[in-house]
Amino acid sequence: MSRDLQYTDNGKLRHFLTIEDLRKETLEQILSTADKFTQFGQREIKKLPLLRGHTVVNLFFENSSRTRTTFEIAAKRLSADVINLNPDTSSTSKGETLLDTVDILEAMHTDLFIIRHAKSGVAELIAQHVPDHVHIINAGDGQHAHPTQAMLDMFTIRQYKGSFHELRVTIVGDILHSRVARSQIHALNSLGVHEIRVVAPNSLLPAQIERLGVHTYTDLLQGLDGVDVIIMLRLQKERMHNAYIPSEQEYFNLYGLTTDSLAAAADDAIIMHPGPINRGLEISSEVADGPRSVILPQVTNGIAVRMAVMAMTLGGASDV
Ligand code: CP
Repeated sequence: MSRDLQYTDNGKLRHFLTIEDLRKETLEQILSTADKFTQFGQREIKKLPLLRGHTVVNLFFENSSRTRTTFEIAAKRLSADVINLNPDTSSTSKGETLLDTVDILEAMHTDLFIIRHAKSGVAELIAQHVPDHVHIINAGDGQHAHPTQAMLDMFTIRQYKGSFHELRVTIVGDILHSRVARSQIHALNSLGVHEIRVVAPNSLLPAQIERLGVHTYTDLLQGLDGVDVIIMLRLQKERMHNAYIPSEQEYFNLYGLTTDSLAAAADDAIIMHPGPINRGLEISSEVADGPRSVILPQVTNGIAVRMAVMAMTLGGASDV
């Protein structure tokens, strides 16, 4: 991935594909712009004219509830025209290639594509293909990256914890298949958290994950000891082609977040999950619905953060 692809020649955000190559100032600008949009979200009339006349196409080749819907709400709040193309009922189902589909939508004067795809690298491939005036936001590609999810998570952490520098953050679960974990680790490192831990059975830890600047644990209670933020991940069964865990019950016994295991963390630790959650598999209902869970605020924050990323790529953020 080239940093050049994500920035214009004069240093503005052109595409938003992965956190990995972005400058720390860009992440901070996303958070501060999202702050302003959060304030607008509390008004009775929530619409702003920033993207009036722009066309945004949601192109989701993989299922989604949160990401697709919050992108649509975000685009509408910025007064863009939004199209949701369903790949199952589009001409891709008749054999049209992905890039041909993008070309025909671009011929209809699409300004911004929001892309989700099961294959890693698809958003970048499209970003390399489109002309300069067309922008791409990655809404999750395979096991590679989910950068807007990571930024709404950073926004939520900052909302509840103030600053990043003193924080210990633990990510628990299927790290191996998780695009969310990869993007979160890059964002947490860039924003300067004190310590990042990952907890999983060895079968769900990527080789050499320590190179990303994390401490690895296979024991849940050790990994949770004293931490300020706990991020639980879903077991991504759709990406598992082997038996990575002996049984779901045993996985929950060893790695599920319950009231008992939560006691190992700091008393004011917050609990996060990008969703969709699997109750009784990675998290108990008591914890997911409990007072320290910020799972629903994460969803709400997705609107302001996605408004910020869209406004920045389309050049309207300086008017906020
Ligand atoms: N977190 C996340 O990407 O959720 P969806 O699959 O529902 O968009």
